[in-house]
Amino acid sequence: MSKLTVFDHPLIQHKLTIIRDKNVGTKEFREIVDEIASLMAYEVTRDLPVEDIEVQTPVATTMQKTLAGKKLAIVPILRAGLGMVDGIMKLIPAARIGHIGMYRDEESLEPVEYFVKLPEDIDQREVLVVDPMLATGGSAVMAIDALKKRGATKIKLITLVSAPIGVETVQKAHPDVDIYTAGLDDELNEHGYIIPGLGDAGDRLFGTH
Ligand code: PRP
Ligand code: URA
Repeated sequence: MSKLTVFDHPLIQHKLTIIRDKNVGTKEFREIVDEIASLMAYEVTRDLPVEDIEVQTPVATTMQKTLAGKKLAIVPILRAGLGMVDGIMKLIPAARIGHIGMYRDEESLEPVEYFVKLPEDIDQREVLVVDPMLATGGSAVMAIDALKKRGATKIKLITLVSAPIGVETVQKAHPDVDIYTAGLDDELNEHGYIIPGLGDAGDRLFGTH
């Protein structure tokens, strides 16, 4: 079974509480999502492999650590996942970006895939799938399916707010994919919204309804 990490860092919790407030406008919402994404990226990359390289400082030659091995890709699930990309890129500027376009049918809540564009060497990269909301889990499962179909083998899922059913659904479908979230909420309402949640993440990020 994959690992679920719920971040209890005070800064992450504080910032998540701010954006849950329905009175927070688009500009502040977008800025804070960006900040939370950076803080989460710091923890999510904790297990990246390192190796020793020789460095010539102004006064000595020394062996020091550098990132080794796997290259990274960040793959947002459109639209809302886009809001987390820049924050992660601040820490991992060399990562490649893929895009998976998906929306939930409002009646059935089933995800509909409309776009997939990934780095060519996705099979050689560790992939960070990002989406602020993990509700039924349908979108995340389908996005991870799309990645695996194209050869990706090492995948992590990063979300801001998750419902228990969404976590369970992803873990069942993809037991090899670890999930990182800032908030594990209570349940879904009859429209598939996370309760208490933060509303529609895409609409709040982009100022649409
Ligand atoms: C939201 C969210 C996830 C999905 C989560 O996207 O960003 O992708 O719903 O729901 P699920 O776990 O039940 O699949 P939405 O379909 O609203 O599209 P948007 O990002 O374009 O607003
Ligand atoms: N998608 C959202 O944007 N918010 C939810 O609460 C559920 C799905």
